[in-house]
Amino acid sequence: MFHRSTALAALALTFFSLDTVRATPTQTQIQACSQSISLDNYQDTVTYSTSDSTAHNQSYSYSVSACTTPGVKVTSIYTQDLDSNTIYTCTLKQFDTTGTLFTTCSITNGAIATTAQSSGDQDWGDFLKVGQKPTFYTIENDYTVDYYTAPTASAASRKRRALQDEPGLEARSDLSPRINCPAGFSSCWTGVRDQFECINTSSDVESCGACPRSSDAQDCTSIAGSNEVQCFASMCKVISCDSYHTLSADGTSCEPNGRHKKRSIYATRF
Ligand SMILES: *[C@@H]1O[C@H](CO)[C@@H](O)[C@H](O)[C@H]1NC(C)=O
Ligand SMILES: *[C@@H]1O[C@H](CO)[C@@H](O)[C@H](O)[C@H]1NC(C)=O
Repeated sequence: MFHRSTALAALALTFFSLDTVRATPTQTQIQACSQSISLDNYQDTVTYSTSDSTAHNQSYSYSVSACTTPGVKVTSIYTQDLDSNTIYTCTLKQFDTTGTLFTTCSITNGAIATTAQSSGDQDWGDFLKVGQKPTFYTIENDYTVDYYTAPTASAASRKRRALQDEPGLEARSDLSPRINCPAGFSSCWTGVRDQFECINTSSDVESCGACPRSSDAQDCTSIAGSNEVQCFASMCKVISCDSYHTLSADGTSCEPNGRHKKRSIYATRF
């Protein structure tokens, strides 16, 4: 009896000290942060020119205190064609003291307009996901796309539409499901049938170096003992390690510094 309560007290102490060090947000704190987030200048219907070459962007406002103390992690930001389910990732950013998170996405407004025109895919959504295992929240803002064609772009667009309208070509997406991505992006299978996304594998932390599920891809966020990681020039780079690990000399891993046993107890909570 005495032995058992000692063990419990030791465990509680371990959790307490870890929470103090790592400042892990609770489920309630993650929820409070997510509820403070709003997409700036949200419009449920947007009108883009098919020749608009500006990158689609998203700007969010959030409560600095709710989202940064302790830090709530942004896990992904993307815009999605809700008709074809194609995902276009946006640069992953984290909350800071400015209260504004601005990101540009891997598709231009012109390409969104062109898709609406050629495939009739007018239903799109801007997504931001926050949290950490086991608590995640998704902020979704759907928008309808109206398009107009500038004279210079119309010839190419008409040609594309003519091809797509031709009977018998409808099954084409099943035969070659890869999507066309802008230069510098790889077309990666999402793991769900027929769904591809455009990923910049030279800088994507979760698909560093290659598409996810390929043997060359590295998920930098899974580096044991790491606190902050980056994918830089297709290679994972560890910026900092947790307090039970020390950054290796080459900056690619975190080495246990003798206190790592506590961390394995912490991991069993999930
Ligand atoms: C973000 O997108 C909006 C709507 O397309 C555009 O008006 C604005 O100029 C863009 N901002 C930046 C900084 O690119
Ligand atoms: C991909 O990411 C790298 C590193 O951040 C950046 O230099 C490059 O411009 C990105 N490519 C595109 C097409 O945005």
